[in-house]
Amino acid sequence: MIHIPRGTQDILPSESPKWHYIEDQLKQLMELYNYQEIRTPIFESTDLFARGVGDSTDVVQKEMYTFKDKGDRSITLRPEGTAAVVRSYIENKMQGLPNQPVKLYYNGPMFRYERKQKGRYRQFNQFGVEAIGAEDPSIDAEILAMVMHIYESFGLKKLKLVINSVGDVESRVEYQEALRKHFKPVIHTYCQDCQNRIETNPMRILDCKVDKDKPEMKTAPSITDYLNDYSKDYFEAVKSHLDRLNINYVVDPSLVRGLDYYTHTAFELMMDNESYDGAITTLCGGGRYNGLLELLDGPKQTGIGFALSIERLLLALEEEGIELPVDNTIDLFIATMGDVADQYAVQLLNHLRHNGIKVDKDYLSRKLKGQMKQADRLNAKFTIVLGDQELEQKQVDIKNMETGEATKVSLDGISSYILEESK
Ligand code: HAM
Repeated sequence: MIHIPRGTQDILPSESPKWHYIEDQLKQLMELYNYQEIRTPIFESTDLFARGVGDSTDVVQKEMYTFKDKGDRSITLRPEGTAAVVRSYIENKMQGLPNQPVKLYYNGPMFRYERKQKGRYRQFNQFGVEAIGAEDPSIDAEILAMVMHIYESFGLKKLKLVINSVGDVESRVEYQEALRKHFKPVIHTYCQDCQNRIETNPMRILDCKVDKDKPEMKTAPSITDYLNDYSKDYFEAVKSHLDRLNINYVVDPSLVRGLDYYTHTAFELMMDNESYDGAITTLCGGGRYNGLLELLDGPKQTGIGFALSIERLLLALEEEGIELPVDNTIDLFIATMGDVADQYAVQLLNHLRHNGIKVDKDYLSRKLKGQMKQADRLNAKFTIVLGDQELEQKQVDIKNMETGEATKVSLDGISSYILEESK
């Protein structure tokens, strides 16, 4: 037997109604915030992520699904959405659109070769948002407000929003130097990756999974002490917006995020559920990326966004014991007695479906009792039993499965009766 690849999962019909519910809800929220959908390819040139996400990040160095296509081009299954959306913004000259910032959202599979854990997959589904073309604390606040709105709209309460400023490029240069100085004397006791990172990108040492418990990690200088005035003011303005919006947050100066493009506002939304025993608690992450467009040969525009995985959203819902109000009912089940009635049922089904009724029948020649059980399993709201007599008289008893009441209705009147009763 061939098995599903490690770190992936089938979304079975019993689960897919939840996905639909979540995706519909997200779409509705996007309309409120006036964001529009963008769909980019699932694979891109490897270069896009190497440059955009950063050569020294774990995502690029260890986690990408990269291969040569038949034309000898290096191709990568997208590990995240931001670089691709920014590529599209640049390529389609969206900076020329009159409405800036361009507010975009996306929803689709991403791929990272990571160690499988509860809430961590090799193919996962990210819903993400990017607002490109404005550098204003109010758009940062809008993005954070949106994150909270999304999670709260599903009834989740045990949430912790963690924010930080990683400063602008200028602030970061000084900070990187301070980190080099701090780690240099002990770097030989760190993993090989960190030994490389000290030269290429010392900030990446801070999110090393191997050396995370080393004492120097805790005493490392904090970016907060290296923020220049512009970065400090920007962060203060974002926080003031959040305060006015009554959004609770915690500032964590050690939050640096695992991708290189972040500047200024960086954030993560965590599960804050004491009973949760899994290792993964980050539900959603994002931030501002002021240099990314230029890095990808684009205009001098800036952006901010976030992404969440639907898998982790489902995990959080499960942990808080929240059942989504998914509709797993059908309107009508048609039970039949005899071949003539069964043939007629095929036409009736077709007619009713064209009139907007969710309807099903038996296909396994079950006895009447078995058909009624099938109606129960399908959560039918109404049932009819169709036999020779009903066909002759051109009317049936429609049984309301909740109340048990039966009403006589003509065969032609079934759809209008159900539509009326379902109002
Ligand atoms: P990220 O923090 O790498 O950021 O991922 C964002 C979210 O994707 C995570 O918080 C988590 O919900 C989900 N995620 C990541 N890896 C996995 C995995 N292996 N299994 C399940 N879920 C996962 C980004 O990807 C940025 N592009 C976000 C962003 C958008 N920043 C600015 N704009």
